[in-house]
Amino acid sequence: MILILLGPPGAGKGTQARLIMEREGLVQLSTGDMLREAVQAGTELGRKAKAAMDAGQLVSDDIVISIIAERIRQEDCQKGFILDGFPRTVAQAEALDRMLEKAGRKLDHVIEMRVDEEELVKRITGRFTCPKCGEGYHDEFKLPKVPGSCDNCGPVEFVRRSDDKEETVRARLKAYNGQTAPLLPYYKDKGVLRTVDGMLPINEVAKEIEAVLA
Ligand code: AP5
Repeated sequence: MILILLGPPGAGKGTQARLIMEREGLVQLSTGDMLREAVQAGTELGRKAKAAMDAGQLVSDDIVISIIAERIRQEDCQKGFILDGFPRTVAQAEALDRMLEKAGRKLDHVIEMRVDEEELVKRITGRFTCPKCGEGYHDEFKLPKVPGSCDNCGPVEFVRRSDDKEETVRARLKAYNGQTAPLLPYYKDKGVLRTVDGMLPINEVAKEIEAVLA
């Protein structure tokens, strides 16, 4: 199964991708995570991406398209994968269509996660993550069972993303509305778009997604 989770920053794409990954045994492909790894490793690609990411803008299409083109050819993607944060522009969506066609594969579902803008800001500015396993938490909505301790890994120094400051979040939302929202009619026209209510609690959203995939 090939699935795209589409939604603004903070909609819960990463949270739901991890749940689907566990349930369906699919690989999660997050371009955001891949770019952050490149930035941290100080690679050429990371240096090119950093300025755009810090400003809350999109990284250039050619960079993310080549990352995904290479990634989906790998063995662990042959059973299927979940795209989290890609595509984000019509040019990226068209490139994905060409990649899949060339590989004789097809996109099964695009799930839009719809969430109000002020809720998104609240979610992102309260988010923190385990640096070891990547599990995401939130100051209000999803606290670890023991303070200062990841539910999976035990005691850790949680990390917060540098682009999760309110002013950068507003820029990211602007980029979503201007460049990514046009993908909704793009996929609607192809008959693969389904929308879930991303305002519901995490497990309720998961149930809605499960129903779409069933
Ligand atoms: P990326 O890492 O993809 O960030 P994003 O799209 O802005 O999405 P987030 O990771 O912030 O949010 P999410 O929807 O995954 O929400 P989460 O599950 O964490 O991209 C970062 C940057 O990289 C971009 O700005 C861009 O520069 C660059 N980039 C990446 N891909 C690119 C591409 N294809 N093209 C060009 N540039 C690209 O949830 C958020 C919080 O809310 C968490 O704390 C969570 O616990 C909580 N939460 C989740 N669901 C719920 C719920 N239902 N109720 C209450 N709380 C919830």
